[in-house]
Amino acid sequence: MSVQITSAIPLVFLIISEGGWNVNYSPKSICALNVSTVTMGCTYTYPSGYVIVKTLWSTELVEGNQEPSDISLDAEYRDRVEYLGDKQSNCTLILRDVTEQDQRKYYFRFITNTATGKWQGQDGVQLFVTDLQVETPEEVVEGDDVTLTCKTTCNLTGPSYIWYKNGVSLSSTTKALNLKTVSSEHAGSYSCAVLGQSHSSSAVILDVRYAPKRASVSITPSGEIVEGSSVTLTCSSDANPPVQSYNWYKEKTLLGKENTYIIPNISSEDSGEYKCKSTNQHGSKYSSVILNVMYPPKNVSVSISPSGEIVEGSSVTLTCSSDANPPVQNYTWFKEGGTSPVGSGQTYSFTISSSSSGWYYCVAQNKYGSHSSALSVILKGEKWVYTIMELD
Ligand SMILES: *[C@@H]1O[C@H](CO)[C@@H](O)[C@H](O)[C@H]1NC(C)=O
Ligand SMILES: *[C@@H]1O[C@H](CO)[C@@H](O)[C@H](O)[C@H]1NC(C)=O
Ligand SMILES: *[C@@H]1O[C@H](CO)[C@@H](O)[C@H](O)[C@H]1NC(C)=O
Ligand SMILES: *[C@@H]1O[C@H](CO)[C@@H](O)[C@H](O)[C@H]1NC(C)=O
Ligand SMILES: *[C@@H]1O[C@H](CO)[C@@H](O)[C@H](O)[C@H]1NC(C)=O
Ligand SMILES: *[C@@H]1O[C@H](CO)[C@@H](O)[C@H](O)[C@H]1NC(C)=O
Repeated sequence: MSVQITSAIPLVFLIISEGGWNVNYSPKSICALNVSTVTMGCTYTYPSGYVIVKTLWSTELVEGNQEPSDISLDAEYRDRVEYLGDKQSNCTLILRDVTEQDQRKYYFRFITNTATGKWQGQDGVQLFVTDLQVETPEEVVEGDDVTLTCKTTCNLTGPSYIWYKNGVSLSSTTKALNLKTVSSEHAGSYSCAVLGQSHSSSAVILDVRYAPKRASVSITPSGEIVEGSSVTLTCSSDANPPVQSYNWYKEKTLLGKENTYIIPNISSEDSGEYKCKSTNQHGSKYSSVILNVMYPPKNVSVSISPSGEIVEGSSVTLTCSSDANPPVQNYTWFKEGGTSPVGSGQTYSFTISSSSSGWYYCVAQNKYGSHSSALSVILKGEKWVYTIMELD
């Protein structure tokens, strides 16, 4: 029961013919990773009595008497293909180092000992080749739940994925890498690969954005601030993207909108709390600093008590007061005509006598300087009177 096959006989006839001329590709479609090795599982059948003289794989599907080109002779494939099949029923082919250029259909062809006993498996096996690409959300803000995906253009069958952050492998083995409530520590360079395969995705930078944090105000020059000096306040913070606007406040008053605020000739009234508000599109952060401006004594004045009538033989107390920062450390009292102090401390007491007449000076001093004030006690006719004078 030999069937005489000629090229004129339509394929329909061949399919229904006894014994079965057939090529079965399994699977019919393959998704392969770039530079991986692909096994194209294949079996074939033909009516009994035929002897296979030639088998080949091709990228061409031919009709009639034409012969498809053999990929094992093609420079593009020659070094990468290996026929694992035989001349009976197995037509399995291995293709190594597949790339995107290999993405097409492949057909198995076998030729028997009879001139017309040839067959090419029409369906072919479809090869898809994919690379790996890390897909990240367009913008990631601290606190977001983020999913990175190791994207492929076709569905790889059941691979285990490997994820890398800054070249160090992570524990996730799935196609999706879930990052819960991300912080700036999650920022970095991510890539993915498939277990057992050399190809890996290119690295993608995950940029985690956040509102300003760790804000601070620095003062230059550092150290004590003395009245009359020039002081620069600088606001700094860590923010991503960088701070877009600054606002300086003292109490509720807006002072400036630069990164720095300069007080060229600082005075005691400039003491107090300065706040800087740093803002980017994700939020604001306040930071503050307290300026304590140092100055030598000022508004030094002497008062006398009792303040009423001064009577000879009575005791009077002079009190020196002043405004200074730091407060006056040393009050020193002098009497007109004398070179050495008559007293020290904030008060000076003495008993009124005929020799008490004259100017009494108080010198108030702190480490930044001194300032004086004076009071005179004089016997005018029958009465003692006093006069106060502020000195420069
Ligand atoms: C075809 O041959 C290959 C290599 O020897 C083998 O791995 C495969 O299992 C065979 N296929 C069938 C269907 O026998
Ligand atoms: C596939 O791998 C080759 C060799 O590493 C590389 O040159 C090519 O760009 C890769 N193709 C894709 C689509 O990634
Ligand atoms: C891959 O698989 C998914 C889910 O199984 C399916 O929705 C999708 O269409 C498949 N993609 C391709 C290219 O086959
Ligand atoms: C600084 O301020 C003081 C008091 O306001 C003033 O007397 C002085 O001239 C100022 N100095 C300069 C350099 O502007
Ligand atoms: C110091 O004196 C000035 C005027 O001489 C006055 O305006 C100011 O209020 C005084 N300051 C204090 C703390 O007494
Ligand atoms: C107080 O003033 C006197 C005289 O000027 C000085 O000798 C002394 O060291 C000063 N004391 C302090 C604590 O500043």
